[in-house]
Amino acid sequence: MLNNIEEAFKALLSCLQSLKMYGQAHPMFQKSLDKAFEALSEVLSTRQDMVIGIVGQDLAFEKEVLFDLAKILRPAIVYLKERNIERIAFYRGLTKEELGSFVNFIAAPKADFKGDVQAAFSLLGIEHVSISKLKVDPNNKGGGFSLAQAELYDSSADIVGQALSGVLNSEKVDHLALKFSLNNIIENLSTQRQELLQLATVKRYDMETYMHMLNVSIFSMYFASCLGFDKADILNIGIAAMYHDIGKLFISRKILHKPGELTDQEFVRIKSHTLMGAEIMMRYIDTLGILPVVVAYEHHLKFDASGYPHLPFLRKQHIASSIVSICDVYDALSQRRGYKQDYSPDVVYNLMNRDRGSYFDPELLDKFFKFMGYWPIGSVVALNDGSIALVKSPSETDIRRPKIQIVAPPEKKRLVDLTQEPALSIERYLNPWKEGKEYLEMG
Ligand SMILES: [Fe+2]
Ligand SMILES: [Fe+2]
Repeated sequence: MLNNIEEAFKALLSCLQSLKMYGQAHPMFQKSLDKAFEALSEVLSTRQDMVIGIVGQDLAFEKEVLFDLAKILRPAIVYLKERNIERIAFYRGLTKEELGSFVNFIAAPKADFKGDVQAAFSLLGIEHVSISKLKVDPNNKGGGFSLAQAELYDSSADIVGQALSGVLNSEKVDHLALKFSLNNIIENLSTQRQELLQLATVKRYDMETYMHMLNVSIFSMYFASCLGFDKADILNIGIAAMYHDIGKLFISRKILHKPGELTDQEFVRIKSHTLMGAEIMMRYIDTLGILPVVVAYEHHLKFDASGYPHLPFLRKQHIASSIVSICDVYDALSQRRGYKQDYSPDVVYNLMNRDRGSYFDPELLDKFFKFMGYWPIGSVVALNDGSIALVKSPSETDIRRPKIQIVAPPEKKRLVDLTQEPALSIERYLNPWKEGKEYLEMG
């Protein structure tokens, strides 16, 4: 019985995924709708209803918590929770049309998901499905980043981990889950970009490879969306970014983390991660497209073609590779902030600008910092009047003068647009793991 329920729920969510990926008219969606309807009808042939609940981070059917399923479907659970859905019930008598309308309904953007759901259902002719929503606490405006954002980030990191280890073990990749997860990030970038960028820039540099992959992916998608790419391209760039260093996972950690200087031979080995990555991603062209191959191959090919792999002819990087290589270096340098070297954002900015025109396309690099700001969103900074502030959003006109929230001392608490207050300026960055730690949650 439980197997059938799991199958039905899985089918339903892949139906939601394919609707979001391909749209309603696409045969992929119709196919998955057929499958979901078949699976649900099977369950409803033996019982009157099927009620699925979301408990914490898990899915539950009656008293069973479906742990395994919850792990695979975490991004979808987060998606439902973001819409405050905690319980979905299907009743016997459900038709395929109703199911299709229901899936269309929950695929709507989060912002549209207000009001009386049941009333909306009856307008749409959906009689055999009901959903209950969580009560939202109106007083909880959510300081700093919201739990849903942190969950979205963590669940995406899980999916990234699964997608990477799938490729490493030459298994099939659940590309729908991966795309769903990155797609969810793209959608959240438009409304919650501060929180997501804060998670990527400030919160997470204690973890390694998967975080780097996810961060580079988030930065690349954000950058691509600021540059005006359309959604399909942004998603493809995000996927390519995620696999850019896949070849490195085949190189011994001893070489990768060697503290001293590398021998020539070791350096050749490291450089081979580009070619190796491209070869690996060739196997996934069917599902993930050609861009991951291109980006894995080109991401160390510098703007002036002085990087690697060495090419016998001059070849300009694909724009996706240029985007990823900027975000790659940015994340790698930013992650070092937590360790001994203490790379504060101004150091990262200066280091990257030193390679302006050689490593990086100068125009593209300028745009990157224009969108990211000189001080990343979420940074804790000290001002010239001695107060402490959190960076809220970059300024359009002056990358060094973002909008900030002063958090200490308490009597000075307020939002400030630094472009409007020439007397105030940012003096120094506070390391969020050390002196800045106590202020981090105060925004
Ligand atoms: Fe690399
Ligand atoms: Fe990298």
